[in-house]
Amino acid sequence: MKKKMVLCTQLPAKRMEELEKECDITIAGELKHGKGNVTEEMVCEECKGYELVVLGDENAGADTLNKWIESGMKFIGVAKGTPVTVDNEVLKAAGIPLSYTPGRNRVAVAEFNIGLMIAVARKLTLSATGLQKGEHLGEPMADIYNVPDVKNVIWGPLDENHPYTDYGIGFELYGKKLGIAGYGAIGREVAVRAKAFGMEILAYDPFVAKEKIEADGAIAVDLDTMLKESDMISIHLPVIEATKNSVNKDWFSKMKPTAILINTARAAVIDQKDFVEALQSGQIAGAAIDVYWKEPVPANHPLLSMRNVVCTPHMAGLTTDVDNWSGEMMAQEVLAYLNGDERKYIWKR
Ligand SMILES: NC(=O)c1ccc[n+]([C@@H]2O[C@H](COP(=O)([O-])OP(=O)(O)OC[C@H]3O[C@@H](n4cnc5c(N)ncnc54)[C@H](O)[C@@H]3O)[C@@H](O)[C@H]2O)c1
Repeated sequence: MKKKMVLCTQLPAKRMEELEKECDITIAGELKHGKGNVTEEMVCEECKGYELVVLGDENAGADTLNKWIESGMKFIGVAKGTPVTVDNEVLKAAGIPLSYTPGRNRVAVAEFNIGLMIAVARKLTLSATGLQKGEHLGEPMADIYNVPDVKNVIWGPLDENHPYTDYGIGFELYGKKLGIAGYGAIGREVAVRAKAFGMEILAYDPFVAKEKIEADGAIAVDLDTMLKESDMISIHLPVIEATKNSVNKDWFSKMKPTAILINTARAAVIDQKDFVEALQSGQIAGAAIDVYWKEPVPANHPLLSMRNVVCTPHMAGLTTDVDNWSGEMMAQEVLAYLNGDERKYIWKR
């Protein structure tokens, strides 16, 4: 007999075909009603009485979970990188493991992170937005398509009117040292991509085996070495007691004055005041930031008007591909449960 499964998040079409052979699947939650259109009460009712419950962003607190458990739930999955939307204490007490999708947007964040590194190193956003704002433009032309047939259009001479005197001259990533703080899912993806750019990788993560880091061609170092030697430092730490505000004036005092800090992790790992002061005083040379202490970032935040800082509005983890990664990982968890195999992605916290 087929098992009963309720699905609130998209799974890849090919996996759906496989699952439909073994399960009767009911669509519910945001997958049925659209993003942001469901309450916990609705989801609680819709998902009651199923052996397998697969959620996306839906909330499930203790009462909801207890109802599902009483009505026969044996598998629960949440297609999120941090499934805090579900009360895991209740699940632990009932002996039901919680499947989730860790690192589902690691490629998205890593590619964006490399983009930020290049943007800050090469004054890319400064010059691109400068042009859009009307800086360094030529006179308007009646017919922009009617230009003289010159073989080699060059902007010159490279004098005080040239954009580089305004935006500054960038540097190449090639041959520079990149410090990675936190060599987890995202830190590693950044490292292997930066290596392809010819960077030397100094990884600081006391919880990852040296051999694992070295297998990627990176060098495992202690914190002080990473801070002192890196030309760029990219932060990929989780927010836990030990990391909160850990990137502070002590860090900045050990970094090179020419060094650049990249943060696509979470703002809470950086001491905000120390960071702003280090950038204002020139203690460090620049930064690229995707995450803030309050989001959306307040309009008067000093980082927004610093020419040595690239700011993006918490965009690193969002791509049109992430749902596929997430759905594939979740489908594998469901299939492992159905086949009685060991599941790979179990939330432990
Ligand atoms: N900007 C975005 O859109 C976006 C998207 C996804 C994730 N993130 C953030 O990126 C960060 C990294 O995510 P991840 O998936 O790579 O996490 P992860 O758990 O896979 O990796 C974190 C790594 O940090 C290491 N670590 C923990 N404490 C440490 C310490 N005190 N010193 C040094 N290393 C330490 C761990 O050993 C682990 O290897 C998280 O803060 C996450 O919230 C941001």
